[in-house]
Amino acid sequence: MTPTVTVRGLRKRYGHTAVLDGLDIAFGAGVTGLLGPNGAGKTTLLRCLATTLAPDAGELRVLGLDPATASGRTGVRRRLGYLPQDPGFYPHFTVFETLDYVAILKEMTDRRERHREVTRVLAEVGLADRARTKVRKLSGGMRQRLALAQALLDEPDLLVLDEPTVGLDPEQRLRLRALVSRLGESRTVLLSTHQTEDVAALCERVVVMDGGRILFDGTPAGLAAVAAGRVSLGDHRPGPGALFWRTADGRYRTIGDTPADAVPAEPTVEDGYLLLVGRTQEAA
Ligand SMILES: Nc1ncnc2c1ncn2[C@@H]1O[C@H](COP(=O)(O)OP(=O)(O)OP(=O)(O)O)[C@@H](O)[C@H]1O
Ligand SMILES: [Mg+2]
Repeated sequence: MTPTVTVRGLRKRYGHTAVLDGLDIAFGAGVTGLLGPNGAGKTTLLRCLATTLAPDAGELRVLGLDPATASGRTGVRRRLGYLPQDPGFYPHFTVFETLDYVAILKEMTDRRERHREVTRVLAEVGLADRARTKVRKLSGGMRQRLALAQALLDEPDLLVLDEPTVGLDPEQRLRLRALVSRLGESRTVLLSTHQTEDVAALCERVVVMDGGRILFDGTPAGLAAVAAGRVSLGDHRPGPGALFWRTADGRYRTIGDTPADAVPAEPTVEDGYLLLVGRTQEAA
């Protein structure tokens, strides 16, 4: 892998809390998913890479540039598409105006070319028929698609997507998967999510973070394998202390120690994740 993003000794603290505590990682072309519980530091890491947050210490290299310098930040911003976790839009702008405005900020000066690009990204996210709708009149999922559309403007080399699938209906999630996997063929795509299915379907690499540290870095199959031999299905309710739920066919699926009468089940990415972040103990 030729890294397009390199992170060395990255530190960020808020008050006395270290959110990122000396993080080392590199990313190359392809789609990488970041998983981690609320507060794990995913947004903090992505914001440092997107140059909207200055780290306290550490070295970053993004697309061969150094975001610690003003010229490096400008250079990164020119080649970056960023979907923030909570994008703010002007409610009275229309969908088209919003994208046109971002495209102007992205230095697309030729009006006709810019409008063609706005029309292209609107079609990519399935919002072409909403071009004249005011942002305040959009549904939550449509607003999320608008946020994604602005990140796609001008075909960025690096896409940083903070929870891109939040609020999307199944059809739109599928559309997003197709779009992101196509982009990942030639570019670097980093996305954070809480949807382990997205990771299984979309990401060739998955990084699990918690407490500002990396707990796992590998393939989705490797993450599922963390739970190998620790997932089971049984007909009887497991005893207290086990993490289990009743499946649609009325059986009990247990993560952790296998109850006496249960049979092993195929582990999923979610099982591996849950075991890794130790939430099974907490839930018990
Ligand atoms: N501006 C801020 N001021 C103070 N603390 C902050 C600030 N931003 C984030 N934090 C803290 O930093 C930690 C990491 O937050 P971050 O947003 O990076 O987590 P996350 O992994 O993106 O979580 P989520 O899944 O909820 O989006 C949290 O404990 C959070 O409270
Ligand atoms: Mg976040």
